[in-house]
This record gives sequence, C-alpha cells and structure tokens, in this order.
Amino acid sequence: MCGIIGYTGNENSVPILVEGLRALEYRGYDSAGISVQEDKIITVKTKGRLDDLAKKLEEHTDLSSGCGIGHTRWATHGEPSDRNSHPHRGKHLSMVHNGIIENYAEIADMLKKIGYVLESETDTEIAAKLIDSFYDECHDPLKAIFSATEIIRGSYAFAIIFEDIPHKIYAIRKDNPLIVASSENGGFIASDIPAILKYTRTYFRIDENVVAELDGANIDFYSSSRNKIAQPIETVDWDIEQAQKGGFPHFMVKEINDEPSAVRKTVSAYQQDDLPHFGIEKIDSDFICKFKSINIIACGTAMHAGLVGKYVIEKFARVPVNVDVASEFRYRDPILSSDDLVILVSQSGETADTLAALRLSKEAGAYTLAIVNVVGSSIAREADSVIYTLAGPEISVASTKAYSVQCAVVYMFALRLALARNKISVEQARKLCVSLQTSVPDAITNVIKFGSKIRSVSKKYINAEHIFFIGRGVDSYLGTEGSLKLKEISYIHCEAYAAGELKHGTISLISEGTPVVAITTQSNVCEKTISGIREVKARGAVVLSICTRSIAEEYNIPCDDMIVIPDTEIDDIDNVLDPFACATALQLLAYHVSELKGLDVDKPRNLAKSVTVE
Ligand code: M6R
Repeated sequence: MCGIIGYTGNENSVPILVEGLRALEYRGYDSAGISVQEDKIITVKTKGRLDDLAKKLEEHTDLSSGCGIGHTRWATHGEPSDRNSHPHRGKHLSMVHNGIIENYAEIADMLKKIGYVLESETDTEIAAKLIDSFYDECHDPLKAIFSATEIIRGSYAFAIIFEDIPHKIYAIRKDNPLIVASSENGGFIASDIPAILKYTRTYFRIDENVVAELDGANIDFYSSSRNKIAQPIETVDWDIEQAQKGGFPHFMVKEINDEPSAVRKTVSAYQQDDLPHFGIEKIDSDFICKFKSINIIACGTAMHAGLVGKYVIEKFARVPVNVDVASEFRYRDPILSSDDLVILVSQSGETADTLAALRLSKEAGAYTLAIVNVVGSSIAREADSVIYTLAGPEISVASTKAYSVQCAVVYMFALRLALARNKISVEQARKLCVSLQTSVPDAITNVIKFGSKIRSVSKKYINAEHIFFIGRGVDSYLGTEGSLKLKEISYIHCEAYAAGELKHGTISLISEGTPVVAITTQSNVCEKTISGIREVKARGAVVLSICTRSIAEEYNIPCDDMIVIPDTEIDDIDNVLDPFACATALQLLAYHVSELKGLDVDKPRNLAKSVTVE
C-alpha cells in the first residue's frame, strides 16, 4: 500500500527521501510527497508518480535539510490529488500515515469545534491535526501522540516531525508495518526493508503502542507510560541484489525465474532425511493428528495456494479442509474451536484481513499456523506457529514465486500430516519429498526455458476483452490463479470456472472467437475437461490448451494452441506434482500479455503489493 520513509542525520534528507520512496514504489501509489525541517517545515507533494515529485522538487533547488519524512499514497479517503497527498500538516507538525482511521468523521467534528479547518478529504489529516491539538496544549510530543492514539480507532503507521523539535522524527504503529534503523549516515524510518537496505541490514520493528524517537542515529523507544524500553534488533536475511531486477526487464519475470531455486531452498529447509520436518516442536505427530478439520484462510494468490493445499491435504492426509477468503471468513461468524487448525497464508504477513482472521481464530481457541514470507511480519509474530516460505523479497505486485513456495510448503505439510495419520508410506512420502526438491524445480526450469513459445502464444491475447479459464480438480484452482494473474496485470476481464460448471450458466458467454484457456494436468479428470473443451469449441471458442506432455500424447485435445508442460511424474502417483510447472506457464502467459501490451507489469493500476487496509 502506501510507503513511508523518514531520515534524520548529517546529510541532505531530500535525495535520501526520494530514493527511499523509489525503493518502495513497488507497493503501489498514486501520489507522493515529502516534508523537511528547515527553520520551518517545508512540504512538497503532488498527485502522480515519483518523477512528478522529482520535477516539483526542481523548483526547490535550495531545499536542503538533515531531517524529513516522505510518503507514497495509495488513495483510500479522497481521490488522488495534490491536496490529498501526504504529508499532512498541523500548526506544529507534519505527518505521513499508512492505514485507515475508522472514526475519522467523529474526530473531524471534534477538531472543527475547536477551530481547525480541514484542507483535504483524508483521514490522515484528521489524525495529524488531532496530534497537533494535543501538542498545542502540552508541547510534549510523546504525550500528544499517546493522547491521540487513545482516541484514534483503526490501523496506522505514523511518522511525524514537529516544527519546534529539529532533527527528530517520531513514529508509532498499529496493524501496519513500520521499521526504524540507524547507520553512520543517520536514523531511518520506513514501512518496508528495501527503503533502508542501502544503509544497513539491521533494524527494529516497532512494537504496537510504542513510540520511536529518532534523533540522528540515536533511537529511543517509549511505552505508553513514557518509559524508555528496548526493542529487539533484527537482521535482514536477504541481499539487496535480490530486491533488484538482476538484468531482467521486470521484477515479475525475474521473480518467475527465481522459482526453481526458491522451491528447492524452501523444501530443503523443511526436510530431514528426505522426509518433511518443520523443526517446530509443537507440530509433532500427536498434536497435528488431533485436529478434526483444517481451515486455510488467505487473500488473493495466497488463497489460491490454499486451494492447492486443500487438494493435496485432502488427497494425502484425508482431513477435510475448508478454504476461505479472509475478508469473508472474518465476518461470517465461523464455527471454530480448539479442535480446529487454522492455517493463514500470506506473502507479506501484513494483509489486514488475514491478520484479522488470525486474531479471530485465536480468540475462538483454534490453533493458528502461519505460512508467511516476510520474517517478523505481524502475522508471523502473532500466529501460534510459523513456517516461513523462503522466496526472498517479492517486489512485483503480481505474486509469482511466493505462490510457488506457498504451494511447496502446503505439499510438505500435507505429507507431514499424512505420515502422522498413517495415510502414506514413508517410502512414498520420501519419493515426493525428493521430487519436490529435484523434479519440481527442474520442471519449472523447463517451462521457463520455453518462455519464447509462451510469448508467441500470448500475442493472440493482447486485444482480447474477455478470457475464460477452465479445468477440473486442482486444474480449476490453477485456472483461478491464472485468471487472477492475467486480469491484474493485463486489465483483460478474466474468469475461471470449474469445467463442469460451464453448462450451468457460463457457456452462454461463449461465442465466435471467445478465448478459453483449458488446463489439463490431471489424467483422472482430463477426459471430462476435454468434453468441456469440445462444448466451447462447438460454440466458436478459440482454445489454448495447457497440458502435460503425457496428456497431450494420449488424448487428442481439440484446441487452437497448446502449451505443453513437462510431466513431473513419480512412479505410482500420477500428476500430483504437475501443478507447479503449470502455474509457472500461467504466470508467464500473464506476464507476456502484459508486457506485449506495454503495460506497467510490476505496478498494475489501482493495486498495491501489500493490502494493509480493509
Ligand atoms: O501478502 P499477501 O500474500 O497476504 O497478499 C495477498 C494478496 O493481496 C495478493 O496475493 C494479491 O492477490 C496479489 N496481487 C496477486 O498477485
């Protein structure tokens, strides 16, 4: 979502702030701005991209200050415009904010009564002016911030500078990530690691309801009783190169290319003697066998990895799995007890709905297990147990490698559970575990190698208005993910359907030339999907078949184009590992349609990398 950067030190903060914001661009935004302290606070902000801000800053060549805050805004309250851009001002301060203030209307009324005039439509300005009103009375920044956050309801990460407190930045957060760090250059505050990685690899993740005070490189933390407290120091476990394009034209394709090694690394980390082993004391056989059902809760692509989890857990461990989108789960009064395992899947570990679902599950007494990519993120910290996916940083808004490793972890978890429940032999589990480390990454590599073939097929789709994805069983889940990937970065309307559902309504949408992507990786249901393909072909659909080599050879699939993926067979278990390579093919299809259309692949319109608001 929005991005926050702050710097205080001996250097000119202006280029540091702009550069920091560039490192956060991937999060998605529609306006940007900075405030710096000279003898007074100077704010420059604009609707648009960082280049627009840089242009505006050219009018302020004399702007040089050792302390400032910056922000990229993804509009929630009020349209993207200059006046709604952050930072927002009070008489004494300037502030940037990520999150949403729920009781902003109530606070606005309060502020108007005491004479404040609001200049924007944002909830942030209201929070800024509320802190300002307290500061006006007490001239104590800590007291003012804590008094305001007692009133504010919602989620926030605030970074604040006060006009009469030079060199200092204050920060506080709730349900939104915010880190602080120091180096010989000074002190930094940021909503995400890439913004500070150039300066340091160590950082503090501020606990909720704790104020961080940065005075150059010196950082103090205060509890709400205004006592100094310590915060644990953390170290970034990936390199800056991993957060760069590494010669690829876009992060998305770079991240697809990372998939073989990410899957290999993740699976290797969670095996011992080629059997699943998570190294989590709590997840022993007796414990995981006690759950009568499993809920997998997540959003977007992570939820689609959850669907693959349902397929593989039910297949191997024979435990019923319910998969739900977090935004629905949290409001449908779910029936949960200590007999339930709730698995939360999230790349960022900060998705607001998934975090809320986690808290609700804990309150209901369920055991919560998080599958998360970002170390130390809120979901990782709050869940009863966490399994980290080892994808490294994912920058592109369209999630690719995170999905592959989430799938890898749910496979390993399914095998662990199946072994504990005696539903699979040790020998079979070992074979699968070895294949997940070897044949699966190899199959993904193979798909990546014939990327140019996928690119040439993609050309057919660049002018499409609608594309349908069909498949059965796990193939329908892959279609759902393929459809999301394509729609989010190509702006083409895409829908995925279980192929068997076609004749219950959807087939009325098929007419001459309608593109349909048919996925057939599973031999047990492929004849059924092929019937569906015949039905849509008979109504004029143009069909792209994505199938395994063995299915292509055995069946005569009626289609106009074909992307053949290698079989990831293991002796006696058919097709179970093929979803990985198929997912990569679907990601490449989406990628090429988007880049061929000349769109902003990594930063699709209206979208943000991490959705920290409801
Ligand atoms: O960080 P999370 O995995 O919790 O994010 C969930 C979704 O917002 C995310 O997967 C989204 O759907 C992606 N843009 C899909 O590519």
